[in-house]
Amino acid sequence: MNIQISNLDFTYPNGVHALQRVSLEIRAGSRIVLLGQNGAGKTTLVKHLNGLLKPSRGDVLIGDWNTREHSIAQLARRVGFVFQNPDDQLFKTSVQDEIAFGPTNLKLDAAEISKRVALAIEWCGLENVRDAHPYDLAPWQRRWVAIASVVAMQTPMVVLDEPTTGQDAFGLARLAALLDEWTRAGVTVIAVTHDIDFAVEQFPELLVMAQGQVIARGDASVLEDESVLERAALDAPQLMRLARGLGWQETPVTVENFYDVLESHRG
Ligand SMILES: Nc1ncnc2c1ncn2[C@@H]1O[C@H](COP(=O)(O)OP(=O)(O)OP(=O)(O)O)[C@@H](O)[C@H]1O
Ligand SMILES: [Mg+2]
Repeated sequence: MNIQISNLDFTYPNGVHALQRVSLEIRAGSRIVLLGQNGAGKTTLVKHLNGLLKPSRGDVLIGDWNTREHSIAQLARRVGFVFQNPDDQLFKTSVQDEIAFGPTNLKLDAAEISKRVALAIEWCGLENVRDAHPYDLAPWQRRWVAIASVVAMQTPMVVLDEPTTGQDAFGLARLAALLDEWTRAGVTVIAVTHDIDFAVEQFPELLVMAQGQVIARGDASVLEDESVLERAALDAPQLMRLARGLGWQETPVTVENFYDVLESHRG
């Protein structure tokens, strides 16, 4: 199931023109990350994918569904959505109930619901807090509860708005493992992050936004263009900066590539 965005314009009621003529296709099973400075329009764009926002102009198609013609509840069967602020989506009194809420709404049978909840708890490392009240958890852990509730929906597409916020190295590794599970299952993953090193390490495809527009799309090599970095107010990934500092022609962005280039320079 592909996503097709055509000539999308969005203006908030206060007059902020947050998206301008955005057109893009996202193929089923792809893994794509949105980069750009604060206010670039990343959240506004992804909120169109599950119908939280409807286009002022243009269209967003999720498979054969135009988001204008489908409710948020219907779209939730196709697109799982983790909010930038998890407190916007947590409202149950225990972690377990929170995760079970979505599948229960899908009217799945009890056995299937408990199977999905157990899997989500395992993938998100929530075993020790399953009975806790979400509001008694640390912010980084609440984010995992929000992620787990999306895991349990088993949608063909997931959107993660700033999942890296507040995660330590262990949390980032867990997130990387979860991305791999989704990719193995053929799920389309669209994430937003300010962590450019995590972005280039984990996502084969980057989409750079500035001032409500998509200004670049491609693999990490799009970040070799100084004008892209400047317009989006992004710092180059650490390994790219290190390679430049070493005077290399190559610009590796993953640790693996960095080693390869290092080996070739050693001759
Ligand atoms: N609810 C709202 N009402 C009015 N304007 C808004 C609203 N939400 C966002 N905006 C404005 O729309 C523009 C795009 O905001 P958006 O939240 O999509 O950016 P973002 O790229 O997600 O930024 P961040 O990295 O800070 O999350 C900004 O100018 C922002 O101030
Ligand atoms: Mg945002």
